[in-house]
Amino acid sequence: MSDRNFLRDFPILNQKMNGKPIVYLDNGATTQKPESVVRAICGYYGGCNANPHRGAYQLSIRATDIYESARARVAKFINAPAPSNIIFTKNATESLNLVAYSYGLANVEADDEITITISEHHSNLVPWQRVAQSTGATLNYIYLNADGTLNDADIDQKISARTKIVAVTHVSNVLGLKNDIKKIADKAHSVGAIIVVDGAQSTPHIPVDVQALDADFFAFSGHKMLAPMGIGVLYGRAKLLEKMPPFLSGGDMIEYVTEQSTTYAELPQKFEAGTQNVGGAAGLTAAIDYIESIGFDEIERIEKNLIDYALPRLRELPFIELYGCDPSVLERKTGIITFNVKGVHPHDVSTILDLEGVAIRAGHHCAQPLTKYLNQTATCRASFYFYNTTDDVDRLIDALKKVRKVLRLEP
Ligand code: ALA
Repeated sequence: MSDRNFLRDFPILNQKMNGKPIVYLDNGATTQKPESVVRAICGYYGGCNANPHRGAYQLSIRATDIYESARARVAKFINAPAPSNIIFTKNATESLNLVAYSYGLANVEADDEITITISEHHSNLVPWQRVAQSTGATLNYIYLNADGTLNDADIDQKISARTKIVAVTHVSNVLGLKNDIKKIADKAHSVGAIIVVDGAQSTPHIPVDVQALDADFFAFSGHKMLAPMGIGVLYGRAKLLEKMPPFLSGGDMIEYVTEQSTTYAELPQKFEAGTQNVGGAAGLTAAIDYIESIGFDEIERIEKNLIDYALPRLRELPFIELYGCDPSVLERKTGIITFNVKGVHPHDVSTILDLEGVAIRAGHHCAQPLTKYLNQTATCRASFYFYNTTDDVDRLIDALKKVRKVLRLEP
């Protein structure tokens, strides 16, 4: 494990929950924020707050500078060709909706097909259902092998000459498995389709290079990577973004407005209507600084160690069922372990773990079609980040040992 004491930077993790030191294992839902991020947000509101892009006075110029520097920082972080490829949104969900309603509605027709995978989060699924319903297009699903990986034959078959859009998650928020985006992008491009990637669960954990992935669109949220809630990112290929109609309209996205018509601003402003989240952008810059100060090699190493430590211990518990954890897929695994306790509803598991100070997520994880495909109605999910430790895993295992006893299913 790392020599660095991350917990010093995350005072929230030094508190107790139900009288026990907190073990936070819901990083797939949102991560905690280091003090440097909290300071950046407070620093912006305490010293620089003004509406960006609108004022000729010093505070507004400073706010504009913070906001546009964040854009440049994000572009570099994911290797986008230019800052103008980066659109700030509220979160990955809004980014994916932007692509669906702006690109999707303008480019998909009744005989076309949209192909997604069964492991999509609702954010990369419901918008495509709505585009299919509005246009009359067909929505196809790529299904999984028994180990949770995408089925290659299905990829070949479901991406065809009729496909206009392929939408796929980089890492499943339930199974924690990485998909080979470049391979799917090559297939999509070979039939003239574009690929939309949901990077919400990858960007915090593995290095992302949107050009190497050959993604046409790539979406992620700040709050899952140490930044505050309310700031998200959409990367888009310039030649696509340039032709797309605006998604939201109003202030700051216009060039000229007359009584009956409007011309729009250049990229990226065309897609950023209304006052933007400058405090969020300041927090996102600080979050990227923090992540880069650790480095993805180290983040991946820590998460792999935690998975390698946790899985054998979970396998020793006869009442645990694991999903997406076959040894054959572990090289694709990020820090997510999804499981069930036999005979106990996940919400009961989560409540009993909470009494032990352990926070996990239980439910369908906003991926109901995948949960159903796994023949479950709900699952438990422990999701790790670099500040978790093997002690946290021990606390999870000890708490799980109590679940069936509390419910008197075991002596
Ligand atoms: N998308 C978040 C999760 O997977 C909320 O928990």
